[in-house]
Amino acid sequence: MGFSPISSLSFFLFLFHFHSTISSSDFCALDQSLSLLRFKESFSINSSASVLCQHPKTESWKEGIDCCLWDGITCDLKTGHVTVLDLSCSMLYGTLHSNSTLFSLHHLQKLDLSDNHFNFSHISSRFGQFSNLTHLNLNYSIFAGQVPSEISHLSKLVSLDLSRNYDLSLEPICFDKLVRSLTKLRELDLSNVNMSLVVPSSLMNLSASLSLLKLFGCGLEGKLPSSMGRFKHLKYLDLSINFYLSLEPISFDKIVQNLTKLRHLALDYVNMSLVAPNSLKNLSSSLSYLSLSGCGLQGKFPGNIFLLPNLESLDLSYNKGLTGSFPSSNLSNVLSLLRLSNTRISVYLENDLISNLKSLEYMSLRNCNIIRSDLTLLGNLTQLTLLDLSSNNFTGEIPSSLGYLLQLRSLYLYSNKFRGQVPDFLGSLVNLSNLDLSNNQLVGPFHSQLNTLSNLKYLFLSDNLFNGTIPSFLFALPSLYYLDLHNNNLIGNISELQHNSLRFLDLSNNHLHGTIPSSIFKQENLTVIILASNSKLTGEISTSICKLKSLLVLDLSNNSLSGSIPLCLGNFNNMLSVLHLGMNNLQGTIPSTFSKDNSLEYLNLSGNELEGKISPSIINCTKLEVLDLGNNKIEDAFPNFLETLPKLQILILKSNKLQGFVKGPNAYNSFSKLQIFDVSYNNFSGPLPTRYFNNLEAMMVSDQSMIYLNATNYTSYVYSIKMTWKGVEFEFSKIQSTIRVLDLSSNNFTGEIPKMIGKLIALQQLNLSHNSLTGHIQSSLGILINLESLDLSSNLLTGRIPTQLGGLTFLAILNLSHNQLEGPIPSGEQFNTFDASSFEGNLGLCGSQVLKKCYGDEARSLPPSSFDEGDDSTLFGEGFGWKAVTVGYGCGFVFGVATGYVVFRTKKPSWFLRMVEDKWNLQSKKTKKNAGRYGARRN
Ligand SMILES: *[C@@H]1O[C@H](CO)[C@@H](O)[C@H](O)[C@H]1NC(C)=O
Ligand SMILES: *[C@@H]1O[C@H](CO)[C@@H](O)[C@H](O)[C@H]1NC(C)=O
Ligand SMILES: *[C@@H]1O[C@H](CO)[C@@H](O)[C@H](O)[C@H]1NC(C)=O
Ligand SMILES: *[C@@H]1O[C@H](CO)[C@@H](O)[C@H](O)[C@H]1NC(C)=O
Ligand SMILES: *[C@@H]1O[C@H](CO)[C@@H](O)[C@H](O)[C@H]1NC(C)=O
Ligand SMILES: *[C@@H]1O[C@H](CO)[C@@H](O)[C@H](O)[C@H]1NC(C)=O
Repeated sequence: MGFSPISSLSFFLFLFHFHSTISSSDFCALDQSLSLLRFKESFSINSSASVLCQHPKTESWKEGIDCCLWDGITCDLKTGHVTVLDLSCSMLYGTLHSNSTLFSLHHLQKLDLSDNHFNFSHISSRFGQFSNLTHLNLNYSIFAGQVPSEISHLSKLVSLDLSRNYDLSLEPICFDKLVRSLTKLRELDLSNVNMSLVVPSSLMNLSASLSLLKLFGCGLEGKLPSSMGRFKHLKYLDLSINFYLSLEPISFDKIVQNLTKLRHLALDYVNMSLVAPNSLKNLSSSLSYLSLSGCGLQGKFPGNIFLLPNLESLDLSYNKGLTGSFPSSNLSNVLSLLRLSNTRISVYLENDLISNLKSLEYMSLRNCNIIRSDLTLLGNLTQLTLLDLSSNNFTGEIPSSLGYLLQLRSLYLYSNKFRGQVPDFLGSLVNLSNLDLSNNQLVGPFHSQLNTLSNLKYLFLSDNLFNGTIPSFLFALPSLYYLDLHNNNLIGNISELQHNSLRFLDLSNNHLHGTIPSSIFKQENLTVIILASNSKLTGEISTSICKLKSLLVLDLSNNSLSGSIPLCLGNFNNMLSVLHLGMNNLQGTIPSTFSKDNSLEYLNLSGNELEGKISPSIINCTKLEVLDLGNNKIEDAFPNFLETLPKLQILILKSNKLQGFVKGPNAYNSFSKLQIFDVSYNNFSGPLPTRYFNNLEAMMVSDQSMIYLNATNYTSYVYSIKMTWKGVEFEFSKIQSTIRVLDLSSNNFTGEIPKMIGKLIALQQLNLSHNSLTGHIQSSLGILINLESLDLSSNLLTGRIPTQLGGLTFLAILNLSHNQLEGPIPSGEQFNTFDASSFEGNLGLCGSQVLKKCYGDEARSLPPSSFDEGDDSTLFGEGFGWKAVTVGYGCGFVFGVATGYVVFRTKKPSWFLRMVEDKWNLQSKKTKKNAGRYGARRN
């Protein structure tokens, strides 16, 4: 009978154990034992810190047992010194102070504290005292602050890992010291350490014997030097997610040619737009992992890259300029991950290819060029755990062969043109955790197709043609976390929510009826409820809603809810960030209970029957970005206390019964972030609030970031508002951050338009119509080069139209009608596109638009080259001239128009939508030249 490998191993362990026990209890010196025990005592064991780590190694640390036998500790067999301390994943929680007894373990060679929770401790400079340390691992342990330069004293370090901590940063001086002294370093992982001040060239001083370099998400900026080629021993290089790092072709060539041992290369989101994809063809054949997502690669991709014999993982996604075709044969048969989404690389799903991809576990071909495809073949890729074919215009029914993919955990088929019903075979994919079929043309009522999917967590079925009643099994799936059914034709009520796992529920834009079911209020974990625009939900909002202590988003807009707003919504938890109850029949007053520390970012109560005053408690909503109280019956003076809300970007109070002078500001910085200010259709009187204008800093600066305003919490709820845009009221389902609107129309404002209005350079829409404004039209309006809509109609304005307005090249709507203007209408490309309706009711105007000839010196038409009425330098600070303004903001604007400011929610009949969208598309294609033509219409 021979020894099996297992039993010989246990025999060896036994011997070792035996040896250690007999070598007397003082094998581990007493001072080491004490130090370790004190160290242990300085932390608590936190079982909730990590799901994966559930074994606290320090539990075996007890007095009376030789410390060399404790879990996580290795001693030098000769001296008894503790040389290895491995407390990775040990559930430690607490601060690691610099007086910790850890630092008396001078003989340590390897120290691993990774995957614990050191509660934002700074890394003590005393780490530098472990003079014999070869391995230091502080990965993922919630350290914060600066990495101390004393780390560079660890000259024997072979491996250093400070990655994935909370908020560590590394100063250039410290980094330089580190790279110069740690000459033995072979593995360096500083991922997520903020190194934004470190210049990439200083990386070149790192030890040439490096075999692993991971600097993922370090905020590196600048060009990566071409001397990268010196790291000949690199096997693993990851510089991903350094958005401002760029790779010149020459540096990339060096990486490709000189790093012949490379197995793992990840450069996601490093700017490689100048690198020719063809240079990848020389990549080392030992490569098993290549990830170049979002690198800005342009051009034809060499087909042979796919043929690297050892390639297991290939990600070229999000390189929209990448073309070429994926070969169908000779592929490495070890390929397990393939991501080509958002490229123009062609893929032919044919027999040859499929038989070559048998090892594939992860395949994402979202928004690719998939040509001549037989989707039924996908049923042969039985190892797949993730399949993403979204955004590809696939038609027909969802192929039943997908039912063979029993390992699938994620199936994404959204944004195609799949028709038919949700297929029954999906019910056999019992491992599915994510299923996204949204934005297709799937029809029919549900039966119980999916009720076997007990692992399903995320279910997206929105934007289809599902009809019939909402099936009750959906509300009984045991693991369901996220349910999105918005934009379908489902009917019925939702009285049967049964599970407790649900966090996210979006049933908006269906045909639900009845009251909000009380079962919702028992879903303790719900954080997002969107039941907007079902149009038929009736009844009151029960105060039980406030039992949902985790609620972040509550959107019940566009229904027929009545009764009053539950007072508790003002203060029931301090997490609620979105409260949208707009467009209902709610009565009573605005809650007066907004408490301090609340997190509201979006508060929309517009379009109800609310009365009374605006509660000053709203100033407790210090995070508020959007406040829409329009279209109610609020009777109050101007709520100037709102000016103290530091983040307010959108304030809409239109169509109420507000009155009096708009006086203010009383605070420094008031309304400085405001970009939409709409108090139209009220009874405000007195002069225009010029002093507020002076503070509208956001309207003085164009925003070039093309993002939609949304809640900052992780739900990313996109803000919507109803607003008059170029004369027509729209519901904007998304709001570009670039938008700037000032609307004071339909009040009783008197006096002149202040000259300083020209400071609000970023304005796109200015409406002062239907007031009693007098005096001239300010020539400074000509500075507002971003204006697309200018309405000064129905006032008492006199004098000439300033020629400077002719320079507003983006102006699509101009309305100066019904004033007392006189003289010639300025000529200029833009002005020629406006018809008589823009000028009617001004008896003294002449020009072709009003079919009235100008005589004598009236006929002058000056280009908008000078601002003759006074010195405009007073409008701006020094150095803020007209030229600078044009250069600075002009191109951002063009970009803005081309991308489109607004996306309309599909609440409108589709023909209407199409009409509106076509209009916008048209307008964005035509540049400034013709923009006016589409705008001259008013409602
Ligand atoms: C170590 O330092 C911390 C903070 O300076 C202090 O709170 C703690 O009492 C000290 N512990 C010992 C054992 O001296
Ligand atoms: C460090 O290692 C050297 C060489 O192995 C040894 O002589 C020295 O005693 C060690 N120092 C400590 C503090 O363990
Ligand atoms: C990189 O490779 C090229 C050619 O393969 C060679 O000429 C050059 O010396 C190498 N550079 C370094 C730094 O090793
Ligand atoms: C796919 O599977 C079917 C049925 O198991 C088999 O007949 C066919 O040959 C397979 N095709 C490929 C390309 O492997
Ligand atoms: C899908 O069809 C639309 C409209 O025909 C087209 O604009 C889009 O590029 C197509 N998408 C793909 C991935 O082919
Ligand atoms: C659902 O839609 C289909 C196709 O439009 C239609 O034939 C069917 O009658 C509808 N069913 C219900 C319950 O509305």
